[in-house]
Amino acid sequence: MAIQNWKTFLLPYEQAVEELKVKLKSLRKEYRKRNEYSPIEFVTGRVKEVSSLLEKANKFGIPLDRVAQEMEDIAGIRIMCQFVDDIDKVVELLRVRKDMQILYEKDYVRNVKSSGYRSYHVIIKYLVNMADGPKEILAEFQIRTLAMNFWATTEHSLNYKYKQHIPDEIKIKLKRAADAAFNLDEQMLEIKDEIKDAQKLFEVKSDIISNIMNNILTLMSAGKVAEASRYQVALNRLIEEGEVYELSNLLKMIKKDIEKYKEN
Ligand code: GTP
Ligand code: MG
Repeated sequence: MAIQNWKTFLLPYEQAVEELKVKLKSLRKEYRKRNEYSPIEFVTGRVKEVSSLLEKANKFGIPLDRVAQEMEDIAGIRIMCQFVDDIDKVVELLRVRKDMQILYEKDYVRNVKSSGYRSYHVIIKYLVNMADGPKEILAEFQIRTLAMNFWATTEHSLNYKYKQHIPDEIKIKLKRAADAAFNLDEQMLEIKDEIKDAQKLFEVKSDIISNIMNNILTLMSAGKVAEASRYQVALNRLIEEGEVYELSNLLKMIKKDIEKYKEN
């Protein structure tokens, strides 16, 4: 197939990656808007380059007219999680969706690969609506923690550098690094509740602070410059060390003031 035809062949995959990225990112947004913890930290996606598609087809002896059926990762989505136990939650989020059909799953989190690779893979069938009608394609999700992702991307670039033949002594070091990443994930899991509380507190505080800021701006635009700067000074004092109740009180006060000026 000519390069131009490959480009056309890849169009539904590009569409699918764009759609899936939007869908998963908006799941995260939904959690944030509800002020809930999101098991999804961030999402990336890519379509396989024609060159690596041809290389892989060649390596696995996939006839070019069978690539769509046999190559599952032409469309690839990566979902990064903060904690190991978020991975199962994300898989569950995928399992209940009606806009994709899971073909199978590979659990390299519990069944670590000999390289040290850990991730949860989900292969799906996904329907995209193209200009010339609906088209069903395959796509691969890789769900992993930030530590797993750090390891995998590093190992991937070493594989690239050494053309899949990483020297044994580096392989051993990589395996050790994978164990360290696993250890980090385990330790983070142990203090997960602490971290979540801290993040939650941070979110609550920044929410109140931006609320106060908006009200200070309202005062300013109502010409109450002296009052506005008084609140600004009070806010500055609380920003670093202030407790939530102190910030809430300040917010209540400024709101009351604004109401008062509105009445006059
Ligand atoms: P592929 O031909 O790579 O699709 O192998 P496979 O069909 O046996 O699937 P597998 O689940 O093993 O791998 C799918 C994808 O996971 C790969 O394309 C990589 O992106 C990733 N992966 C699997 N093993 C490793 C690994 O040892 N190191 C890194 N960095 N990534 C891996
Ligand atoms: Mg594969």
